[in-house]
Amino acid sequence: MRSDPLGYLSTELDTLKLQGLYRTLRVLEGEQKAKTTFDHRQVVNLSSNNYLGLTTHPLLRERALEATRRLGVGSGSVRSIAGTMDIHMELERRLAVFKNTEAVVVFQSGFAANAGTVAAVLSKDDVVISDELNHASIIDGCRLSRAAIKVFPHKDAAAARRIVAELPAAQRKLLITDGVFSMDGDLGALPALCDIAEEFGCIMMVDDAHASGVFGRNGRGTIDHFSMHGRVDIQVGTLSKAIGALGGYVAGSRALVEFLYHRARPFLFSTSHPPAVAAACIAALDVLEQEPQIIERLWENTRFFKSGLQTLGFNTGLSESPITPVIVGDGALAMKLSDRLFQEGVFAQGIAFPTVARDKARVRTIVTATHTRDELQFALDVFAKVGRELSIL
Ligand SMILES: Cc1ncc(COP(=O)(O)O)c(C=O)c1O
Repeated sequence: MRSDPLGYLSTELDTLKLQGLYRTLRVLEGEQKAKTTFDHRQVVNLSSNNYLGLTTHPLLRERALEATRRLGVGSGSVRSIAGTMDIHMELERRLAVFKNTEAVVVFQSGFAANAGTVAAVLSKDDVVISDELNHASIIDGCRLSRAAIKVFPHKDAAAARRIVAELPAAQRKLLITDGVFSMDGDLGALPALCDIAEEFGCIMMVDDAHASGVFGRNGRGTIDHFSMHGRVDIQVGTLSKAIGALGGYVAGSRALVEFLYHRARPFLFSTSHPPAVAAACIAALDVLEQEPQIIERLWENTRFFKSGLQTLGFNTGLSESPITPVIVGDGALAMKLSDRLFQEGVFAQGIAFPTVARDKARVRTIVTATHTRDELQFALDVFAKVGRELSIL
């Protein structure tokens, strides 16, 4: 009889179970909304990236349906062969105006945008200088590029400068940070890093996945928030979070975008979005222009919930965005906290090593514009009850 060559996977899963770190997938029964049903339980949902509630916005839904009726359900090809539809080009033009750049190229996801772009613009003789908490898609892109990787401590621009200053002047360098860090909700050291990039001639790249639709005028992102237009060579955004649909994009010069048309592997080797996705994203940009009060509501909810957690005495780290971690340290405790919150009607995902450092396990909360005050107050009351029960407070 054939032995199981994948038997070691079950052993690893058993270890996770022993450590209290084994997770089952929560299943959403219905729409992605602020209050909804997962695993047969109605919960206040603090785990989605649906910052503005656009996943269920009537305009996006209608435009997606209209595009499906008119154009079908699939693009049928990769972008570089037969899969570039006029609706893809329209979305890219709209995004370029939104981001105030010459051009934009859309990828299938934010992950593909980051990994595909870093791997395309760098090669083995180059070096990337990267914040230690940058997203996994950036890390994978760096590895795929085969460039040397130098990591600086989180947001420590002085350390980044020391690294850059020691590198040969002629070596190509990419300085890269998240705009908003996805696990901590704090902002990248953008102005200081842009100064360094200019001083040493580095390529400056920012991943604004959690900032687009959230920071800046009409949600234009951290580059707009910090008034850094023209100082960031490569801006990445996602269409999967505040925009409410799916996808990622790179905004920058026309030459950058055309280079990515020729060299970014997800662009070349993976099929483009269905028309419905592109149509929904275009509609989302219309909503950002026409209903900026949604973003204001997101921030009102953020202030209310974050200060509520802090008043209760939770450690919320250095968050400056709608992402607020409740840091408890131990991984098993974070999972226990998440499970108890869920039983009491609040869904806040537990996050442990390797996603965050071993001693920084947490549950992560994300409020949206569509949470009501009552829902957020309910969630705070449950946090207080469970926090005391588990001796976190
Ligand atoms: C900082 C950051 N960058 C990129 C991504 C990837 O975006 P997407 O979900 O569109 O692939 C994420 C999402 O998980 C993220 O948090």
